[in-house]
Amino acid sequence: MKRIVIALFAVAFATVAAADGAAVYAAKCKACHGAAGEGTKMAPDAIKGKDSAKVIAEGKGKMKPVKLEAADAKAVADFVKGLK
Ligand code: HEC
Repeated sequence: MKRIVIALFAVAFATVAAADGAAVYAAKCKACHGAAGEGTKMAPDAIKGKDSAKVIAEGKGKMKPVKLEAADAKAVADFVKGLK
């Protein structure tokens, strides 16, 4: 029984961590980069799978830096990197 409870905790944690990056992405990036990082008219190059930490902090070309808490910036960068 104890083992099942621990397993459930692990799953709950993993879900929250993953949801965070996705939520930040939806709120801060999706409008310009598309739901799956595939790009839009606004930002035509796909960003899925790319390393975005530096771009978030410093901006790039037409993209301004995005102000985020460090943990949110890391979560969303991990999320983008994991997109396929
Ligand atoms: C207001 C629109 C806008 C928002 C919001 C935005 N971006 Fe961008 N982003 C752009 C544009 C436009 C470019 C292309 C910049 C250029 O090369 O001129 C870009 C470029 C990038 C690149 C570089 C792509 C490459 O080919 O090197 C990454 C990575 C990126 N954005 C990630 C993000 C992430 C992560 C977020 C959310 C935290 C975000 N962007 C939010 C418009 C946006």
